[in-house]
Parts: sequence; C-alpha cells; structure tokens
Amino acid sequence: MLDTGAAWLDDFWYVAFPGRALKPGRTLARTLFGEPLLFGRTSEGKVFAFKDLCPHRGIPLRHGRFDGKEVTCRYHGWRFGPDGRCTAIPSLVPGQDFDCARIRVGSYTVEERQGLVWIFRPRKGREAPPGPPPAMPGFPADARPAFAIQRHFPCGADHAIYGLMDPTHAAFVHTSWWWKKDASKLRQKTKHFEPAPLGWRMKRHRLPPENRMYRPFGREVTTEIGYQLPGLRVEEVRSERHALVGLTAVTPLTASESEVHQVFWWTPAWMTLIQPLLKHLAGVFLDQDRDVVVLQQEGLKQNPALLLVDDADAQAKWYFRVKREWLRAAEEGRAFENPLREKTLTWRS
Ligand code: FES
Ligand SMILES: [Fe+2]
Repeated sequence: MLDTGAAWLDDFWYVAFPGRALKPGRTLARTLFGEPLLFGRTSEGKVFAFKDLCPHRGIPLRHGRFDGKEVTCRYHGWRFGPDGRCTAIPSLVPGQDFDCARIRVGSYTVEERQGLVWIFRPRKGREAPPGPPPAMPGFPADARPAFAIQRHFPCGADHAIYGLMDPTHAAFVHTSWWWKKDASKLRQKTKHFEPAPLGWRMKRHRLPPENRMYRPFGREVTTEIGYQLPGLRVEEVRSERHALVGLTAVTPLTASESEVHQVFWWTPAWMTLIQPLLKHLAGVFLDQDRDVVVLQQEGLKQNPALLLVDDADAQAKWYFRVKREWLRAAEEGRAFENPLREKTLTWRS
C-alpha cells in the first residue's frame, strides 16, 4: 500500500478557499489539517487566520464578534487582533499590571494571490514560509480566477491526489453524454515526462486536433501538465493568442477528509461568456470524481493491499516516491532531491 503514514506535509502552502468567499469584516471557520481555524478579512481587506480557540477558557472564537479589526470572544470579551495577539481583557482594572500582548492565539501565515487564499502549514521550528505561494504561470498576482469550485472528498489527501494523476479512469467515470459515451473506444496514448521542482511534468506537447475543447484557441495549441507536492496539478494550455491555466489542489481537512479545489484562469473572452456553463460542467466532472471515491471508501475500510499497474499507475508511484523523499529529507535535515528521471509512459484511455 502506498502509504507514507503522513496525512499531510508540513512546510507547504495549501489552498484554503477562493478570496471572494470572505468579504471584508467577515470571518470564516474552517477545519484544516485536523485543526479548527478561524479566517477573517479586516475592513482594509487583509486576510488572517488563527486557531479557533480562545486561550482563556477555550471557547471557539468563531462564536464571538468581529468588527473588521478585532475578534471579541463570546465568553468574557477578550479581544484579539489579526496577528492573534490579545489587545484587551475587559476584566482588568487600572493598576492590575498585566500585559495582554503576551497572550496569543496561534496564528497561521496566509497570503492572497491570483484570487486564492493560501495558508502556510509550517514545519516545527521553522515558522516562516521559504517563499510565496505557487504562482500560476502567465497570469499576474492580482488576476482573478474565471471560476473556482470545490468539493468535499471523504478520503485522506493521498487518495484524492492519486485521483489527479490517474489517466485511465476518465472513460469509466466521466461518462456524461457530452464527454465520452462509453469505454469501448480506448486509444493508446504515449506521453513524455520529466522531473520538475517538487514533482514532475508531462512535457509540453501539441494538443491533438481532435480535442474539440481547445479548437477555438487557434492553431498550435500546446499544453503542459505539472504535478507537485503537496498535491497540486497545474495544467497550462497556450496558443499564440490565448492562455488557460487550470489548478487542481487537494487540501487536507482531516486525516480522512479532503477538499479538492478546481480553479481556472483564462484569457479568451468567449469563454467568459459561457462561464456559467463551463463552471457547471466542471462541477459535474468533479462530482463524478467524488462519487467514485465515496464508493471506494467502502473497500478501503478493509485496508487492502493496492495493486498498481504500469504504466497507467506510474504517476501514483512517483507521487509516493517524491513524498517519501520529502519526508526523509526533512527528517535528515537535508535538501530534497528529486528521485525521478525522464520517462515515457504508454497506456490506453
Ligand atoms: S473564554 Fe474567551 S474570553 Fe474567556
Ligand atoms: Fe477525474
């Protein structure tokens, strides 16, 4: 079984939610990495996150009030700023010399970029992120996604991630009439892969002309698909006129639940015209992926040994190898060394 025993990796940025899900002056309670968190956006627009737990007597802070500047605890009114620092304890009287600022709710580093709120999951002893969250190629830092959808998957991050790099389920799972009718017309595919920072990528190649979806992009449409830790798949389609980037990101909610985010940025105006339709279709796709994972859980409860078959499942094995190397490198206090080599994979799908 491909199991590293680590439900999630530390020292990485994860997608928390699309920025538009959190309006100024509002808070949003979410459990990530098995920990209840409280996100908020100040009236000035800055997003913050801290543990959803009052350090006084432990009530979740989401039950309190947020005025756009500070969160006030529901129980005894202690106040906390966006950095998690306590700013006021109403019970104190003049002369009671107590420095509130010494009290802190554990806070997380968050950053909003390209319309997504990313949260940094630190490694013990190293709180600061080594760099900014991953940037989607070809779009500026303030680019808004064309749309972002997310679904709850009742499985740990690893199984949700194997799904991202599984090239042969489509004909059996994505069986809508507008996509593929049945699995009787499988074609042989050969794709070239190379190592990339923190993962690997399917080398840039021309999209086959029979791919109707990208025909309006013009001629010479190429694509590159990158997979990287901790569970990101970035597909970049480019032509001389247009660009489209699709991000699939798996965020661990608990050891046995994940959220899968599907986000697109694109340049063609005609795609924006039919955005509601495209968003709906992407939702149907993600529902199909989720529904089959729901069924799979019944079997996984028995903790079976998994039988992965080359070349179709080669990428699932690569993910496992890259993740294991990351964990080992962290344990041994050395730099990560990508264990993958260039490789051509062939399968029918
Ligand atoms: S429990 Fe929050 S102020 Fe007392
Ligand atoms: Fe799928």
